[in-house]
Amino acid sequence: MADRLAKLREKARGYYTADDYNYHVLLVVKYAKLLAERTSADQEVVELAALLHDIAVKDNDEKHETVGAERAAKLLKELNYSDENIEKVKKCILTHRTSGEPKTKEAEIVRNADAMAHITALPFLVKIGLEREKDFEKALQWVKKKIEKADKKLTMPETREIIKEKYEDAKLLVDIDANTGQD
Ligand SMILES: [Fe+2]
Repeated sequence: MADRLAKLREKARGYYTADDYNYHVLLVVKYAKLLAERTSADQEVVELAALLHDIAVKDNDEKHETVGAERAAKLLKELNYSDENIEKVKKCILTHRTSGEPKTKEAEIVRNADAMAHITALPFLVKIGLEREKDFEKALQWVKKKIEKADKKLTMPETREIIKEKYEDAKLLVDIDANTGQD
């Protein structure tokens, strides 16, 4: 079983940029497992979905939840995961973005874990912002929007407790305009 997961990790890795995988995906997996533990959700489904949730970002950012869900299903099928678990994982991936509405506990966990990772890996978010905007001020505006979006995705009470301090740091950054010139 562990061997199957190792194979899946190896395959999944190839679809991500190294930075996305190391500084976002692995963090989402970590938070998702933590939330699953605390809420007795399905550990395996949550881990698989977290690992695969952004698998289509690199080549299909706009529709990465739908393209990603299908791609994830294909990878899982190749490794003989059960149809039942494949369906559960697909549900998680399909609703992990702001536009989605999670229908299962596992889906809510993956969505919350994704948001937690955005909020707590600020340096990574700033790096992505800079790559997109090529200007520090604009990049920061992009980061702020991303944090505000992530904030809306934190629907589980456990999340704010787990990332309390980092959440405060992120909020400081988001509110920085209001504080300019105040001190
Ligand atoms: Fe993500």
